[in-house]
Amino acid sequence: MSFYVTTPIYYVNGEPHLGHAYTTIAADILARHHRQRGEDVFFLTGTDEFGEPVAQEAEREGVTPRELGDRYAPRFKELAAKVNASNDFFIRTTDEGHMKRVQEVVQRVYDNGHVYEGTYEGWYCPRCADFKTESEILDGNKCPIHKIELTREKQDNWFFRLSTFQEPLERLYDERPDFVIPEFRRNEALAFIRQGLRDVSLSRPTLKWGVPVPWDPDQVIYVWFDALLNYYTALGYGREGEDLTDRFWPPFHILAKDILKFHAVYWPAFLMAAEIEVPERLFIHGYLLMEGHKMSKSLGNVLDPDTVIETFGADALRYYCFREVSFGQDGQISPAGFESRYETELANEYGNLANRTLSMVGRYRDGVVPEAEVEPELAAAFAGVADDVRALLDEAELTQALDRIWGLVRRLNQYVEETRPWDLAKQSDERLDPVLYGLAEGLRATTLLLHPYMPDATGRLLDALGEDSRELAEFGSRGGGQRLGELAPLFPKLQ
Ligand code: MSP
Repeated sequence: MSFYVTTPIYYVNGEPHLGHAYTTIAADILARHHRQRGEDVFFLTGTDEFGEPVAQEAEREGVTPRELGDRYAPRFKELAAKVNASNDFFIRTTDEGHMKRVQEVVQRVYDNGHVYEGTYEGWYCPRCADFKTESEILDGNKCPIHKIELTREKQDNWFFRLSTFQEPLERLYDERPDFVIPEFRRNEALAFIRQGLRDVSLSRPTLKWGVPVPWDPDQVIYVWFDALLNYYTALGYGREGEDLTDRFWPPFHILAKDILKFHAVYWPAFLMAAEIEVPERLFIHGYLLMEGHKMSKSLGNVLDPDTVIETFGADALRYYCFREVSFGQDGQISPAGFESRYETELANEYGNLANRTLSMVGRYRDGVVPEAEVEPELAAAFAGVADDVRALLDEAELTQALDRIWGLVRRLNQYVEETRPWDLAKQSDERLDPVLYGLAEGLRATTLLLHPYMPDATGRLLDALGEDSRELAEFGSRGGGQRLGELAPLFPKLQ
């Protein structure tokens, strides 16, 4: 089994913010989960460096677009490392390998007869790198997303015959109802397709910043086509001396609703035109909001991920985002919300459970997990959960899966309260063995499930539990007998 997961590639026109980190973390959780299943995984993220969104910012700052890319691409790369993303490659669209393969694919689309020369006139948003229809425009000439003035553009350029893919796309959506998830996003994309597709620009005049059109040096490839193709080109050169395309294609894409149209309509059509298999799936998530606004550079309400990570740690950030906001929906995040989940759930519920379990095994059984059977009432709580988590994560339901896992944390805490191991110890009750075994084994199974969400803290706890493997394991599949190690508090009290 192979699993290829991607994030959008981010524009290098400003500092990365928490919204970018969010998608990267989501993809990372899935990548780590699939690795736990023993699958062959490739996880891609990177930066989008061509087109007006970057060229315009460069102009404003009086630098070249390449300089801007060289300034911000490393910042995005660092952010991925800081949130503990386990990406296998970081693509930059200015890479030679990318540009070369983009030209090959675009040439193929041209050779297949899906490209023609024409003129387009319309309202254009340079931040979206997209034309707007009359019905989308705000106050006569404003972008509905960025609220900036649109420019009236008339261009002679190359067109992609998107319109001829209307039927093939409808068929695709029909045959594969879960091509785009969640379903309400699928319906949105399908409605867009059904309303009638117009051909779209495939190129722009050369004075713009981009990959040259192979058969016409006066034009560069429209940034969206060059950008989308990153998912394909990366497999060609992302690992030295190896072409990974056959091994990993097709991809599972994670992205937010802002770029649904490009991914759910243009992209599969373009792939069909190039005779490349369409993606396996697209999961479309919502926005993280701060005080009701989407976090975005242009709207200027950005929560700095460095500060958040310094305060709460990468694990807590990873946990909080998917616990607080139902993945797929828009949702509010706030420093107060962070703090409260950190204390009540991470420090008190999970951290204490870990410390209590280790210290009781230490105190009552000299640090060695007793060999015993699990009690049926505890076993019942675990029955089927690992399978449910897998099934939910197959649908990229990160929040629901985390809910199920957190139910186990709570059940284990409740089990401690019900069984009162300290009383059992006082009374030298034999039940202490199954109880301590159940707690240690339950903590292990739960922690393995949590591992993709919080790789650091869970890694330390698994080490302390004497578990070397990170593969998913059924509750009860490991007997007792392990000597437990030391564990510093997983989530120390905030200053
Ligand atoms: N470069 C294009 C994407 C090309 S992909 C072939 C682009 N870049 S972007 O820098 O604007 O990134 C947009 C993506 O960043 C969103 O689709 C989403 O994945 C992520 N997010 C940016 N802000 C976000 C929030 N406030 N909340 C959630 N995700 C956010 O579009």
